[in-house]
Amino acid sequence: MAERKKHPVIICRCNDVTEEDIVNAIKMGFTDPEEIKRLLRVGMGPCQGRTCIPLMLRIVARETGKPISELKPPTARPPLIPVPVKVAKVGGNPLSE
Ligand code: FES
Repeated sequence: MAERKKHPVIICRCNDVTEEDIVNAIKMGFTDPEEIKRLLRVGMGPCQGRTCIPLMLRIVARETGKPISELKPPTARPPLIPVPVKVAKVGGNPLSE
């Protein structure tokens, strides 16, 4: 990637992805949020993109000029909520815990 700014704006804290990384990816032609997710691992950390995916979508909208409503968010992968170890170990519904 290009030279880093002195004070980068972190978008994905889990995977240390900056706003500049996302803008550079868009400039390279990766304008689909799913592509950017796979390229930079935005949203693939332990929090599963709860904060960084909406931020990434806003950056894509800003940089491409597309309305955010026209952007397809990247595919979400379960679990979407924290799963207690005992549920993961023996099975069951974490929502009934
Ligand atoms: S902040 Fe991006 S996956 Fe957690």
